Amino acid sequence: MNKSVIVNKSCALKGNIEVSGAKNSILPIICASLLTDDVVELSNVPDLNDVHVLIGILEDLGKRSMFEKDKLTLYPTDELNINIPIFISETASKIRYSILILGALLAKGHEVSLPLPGGCSFSERPIDIHLEGLRKLGATIEEHPNKIIAKSDRLKGAHIKLRFPSVGATENLVIASTLAQGVTIIENAAREPEIEDLINFLNSLGAKIEIEEPGKIKIIGVESLIKKQSIKHKIIPDRIEAATFIILGAIAAEDFITIKKMNVTHNLAFLNLLQKIGVKFEIINNSTLKVYKSTNLIGTKIETDIYPSIATDIQPLLAVLLTQAKGESTIIDSIYPSRFQYIKYLNLMGANIQYLDSSEGIKIIGETKLYGHKVLSTDLRGGAAVLLAGILAENTTIIENSYQIFRGYSDLENKLLGLNVRLGNSSDKILQMI
Ligand code: EPU
Repeated sequence: MNKSVIVNKSCALKGNIEVSGAKNSILPIICASLLTDDVVELSNVPDLNDVHVLIGILEDLGKRSMFEKDKLTLYPTDELNINIPIFISETASKIRYSILILGALLAKGHEVSLPLPGGCSFSERPIDIHLEGLRKLGATIEEHPNKIIAKSDRLKGAHIKLRFPSVGATENLVIASTLAQGVTIIENAAREPEIEDLINFLNSLGAKIEIEEPGKIKIIGVESLIKKQSIKHKIIPDRIEAATFIILGAIAAEDFITIKKMNVTHNLAFLNLLQKIGVKFEIINNSTLKVYKSTNLIGTKIETDIYPSIATDIQPLLAVLLTQAKGESTIIDSIYPSRFQYIKYLNLMGANIQYLDSSEGIKIIGETKLYGHKVLSTDLRGGAAVLLAGILAENTTIIENSYQIFRGYSDLENKLLGLNVRLGNSSDKILQMI
């Protein structure tokens, strides 16, 4: 689905928009479901391409599933023979989170051959922290140019200190050590809300996992996770999607729009930053926020960091907001220092953004008028940035490579149309693919 999206200037948005379940929660939770042979019923599941790809990989492994509306039911796996090596298909290389299948299958004592994972291509994304941790748990891992071959008998609990609090590596090691013999301690672990969601899910399966203090996770390995009852779990709201809609309201609401089904607590640092920039919003309750059309924005210095600081995934969207602010802004991305491919396309639309270097990030000269242009969705959030810019820009913007955007935003077309975003070539046209 490598098609283009057409979007027209739409600066009179109004109404409500609902946030879906978090992409970065559902992906590890689907992988973790490989640990149980109980029926798993997940709700608030976003309908995303990456979710479908991952379900497909699990189906190759014998897990049946049913995905209807926002409910995903995963049924027990037909018994996998642990003496037969498992070859994960090339499909897995399309999404980075296929790497978490490794932790789950090693936990169950399998020998696995996995193609190297893909995902958003905005930066080099190594997996050394994952592999080092799995080795500490007793796995034998061979690294080949395009694949990994890994095996283990029962993994053994270990004390692991991560050299960086990687989200994916923390999730992989939590999943892997759930069934390990003995206790595992993960220090310098990631603290993102999605980690807590995964832990809550695993505990509902019968795991014994505790966040002892922020950044320190204790896992007491259990023999198995069979409870002989179906497990229900609701995925937390997507905080990056919520942030995207808040910025959308600030730049393009007629008066205000209302964001529903979010979790305000997960976006606190972002909301504090918006206040500093001059965005006007009102927190109605923890799941509902009204954001007003905001003018008189002030140029600001931003640096992304691990949770609870400003997420790297939000910085391309903030860059669009800051093209409208008075004065100069800078954004440094300390998680992915070169995640700025999208600025080329914002500049084509009239923005004035300069890449300095990986330690100084980008400089944005504000108060620029944006104009529709043919642009490229360089990656998921870079694509969302040019989409926001297209909504703000004069005339029409055509976004190529748009499948990238749909990797992270569930039901986006209907949500935007519900706010009066003018998509396609005529008023009654849905998000038009050309
Ligand atoms: N890193 C290593 N070695 C590793 C793992 C990570 O050097 O083995 C480095 C990365 O290169 C990066 C930093 O550690 O510089 C952070 O990477 P992390 O592992 O935390 O990221 P991830 O788990 O691969 C998740 C999200 C990303 C989000 C990052 C950072 C999911 C599915 N993906 O990726 O989400 O940018 O955490 O918060 O959870 C997105 O939603 O647009 C997206 C890319």
